[in-house]
Amino acid sequence: MAVQAPSVSQPALAGRMQRISVSATAAVVIEAERLRGEGAELVDFGAGEPDFPTPAHIKQAAVEALRQDFTRYTATGGIAPLKDAICRRHAALCGTSYQRGEVLVTLGGKHALFNSISALVDHGDEVILPSPYWVSFYDQITYAGGRPVVVATDEERGFTLTPEMIEKAVTPRTRVILLNSPSNPSGAVFAPALFRAVLELCRDRGLWLISDECYLQFIYEGAPYSVGAEPGARERVIIAGSLSKTYAMTGWRLGYALAPKPVIEAMLKLQSHSTSNPVSFVQKAAIAALEGPQDCVTAMLNEYRRRRDLIIAGLRSIPGLCCGEPAGAFYAYPNIQALLRPGLDSPLIFSQRLLREAGVVTVPGEAFGTRSHLRFSYATSRQNIERGLQRMHEFCAKLS
Ligand SMILES: Cc1ncc(COP(=O)(O)O)c(C=O)c1O
Repeated sequence: MAVQAPSVSQPALAGRMQRISVSATAAVVIEAERLRGEGAELVDFGAGEPDFPTPAHIKQAAVEALRQDFTRYTATGGIAPLKDAICRRHAALCGTSYQRGEVLVTLGGKHALFNSISALVDHGDEVILPSPYWVSFYDQITYAGGRPVVVATDEERGFTLTPEMIEKAVTPRTRVILLNSPSNPSGAVFAPALFRAVLELCRDRGLWLISDECYLQFIYEGAPYSVGAEPGARERVIIAGSLSKTYAMTGWRLGYALAPKPVIEAMLKLQSHSTSNPVSFVQKAAIAALEGPQDCVTAMLNEYRRRRDLIIAGLRSIPGLCCGEPAGAFYAYPNIQALLRPGLDSPLIFSQRLLREAGVVTVPGEAFGTRSHLRFSYATSRQNIERGLQRMHEFCAKLS
């Protein structure tokens, strides 16, 4: 039988590439860039990253490391003083007692998640994933050959879950339960009781719990909580953490995983054949971030709280739009169902028209597995929030 050669214009790609798609958040960024290129002046609620500069003492530590020629390969899983600093900061924040051998330093929290999912999920394995979920969870699971089993939550229950909802989704193929609190995109913060129940379920059924703590320090009431502090958690839990949001360091690419030693070793093996070590001088800056003054984090959190109050009040004043109050992170996730109509019948179309006709960048709920919502990142100035709300009002008024 003749075998058809792949055409030059369409090279044959590995089958696994068909299991993932371009992130919808990236698609919004591309469209917004195109419009900006044409001279449009946009109000951007799309980007999920702090608009603050990285604090000066962190930048200074990177400069100092460069001056001292700290520019070579380091240990693949990160330098020991950084691992210790991660353990110490996590212990101070959440009362955990992780040790150096239970830490892997990665190139961002996303990389920690990628390594953990790759290390734990086999072909056909199921991963329980509450929706709305952060875009990359879904694709990282399918890329590994796993099957996301989505458990839907809604604003009526504040986008949180009961242990029963998770338990019902468990099958003999379940391997991992993946929780993200505070959540991107809903801003929900899950109660410690939920984590304890899930942990017990994991222990009973031999499952893993991956807990994404990327927004750990951005909660508006109470102290940060980590399931890693629960007795016996360290044998069943993989924590993915990040300095990206906490210290306004998105571009520096520094995250970490906290996990049982055998899991760390598996992830390290993968990291040694892919990225190798996190950037040498960034690791020094990360030590300065974790060990230095923390008032920069408090200042950012306080500003996010002011922005949250502003945007939630503004969104709620738009007739037909309903919006819960996020307890953490920096996203509003209003329900726009009442504003949808023929010709404007999905968040995706709504978001596209809002961008083209009003110059407001949002991310449609489809990206997060829901069909009635838009995500607004309020990691932008209060002035921008006010301008964006004004445009939203005008756009929505024209619909009715
Ligand atoms: C829920 C969640 N987890 C992880 C990440 C990864 O962040 P980074 O790779 O920059 O650490 C993000 C970034 O947006 C996120 O929203």
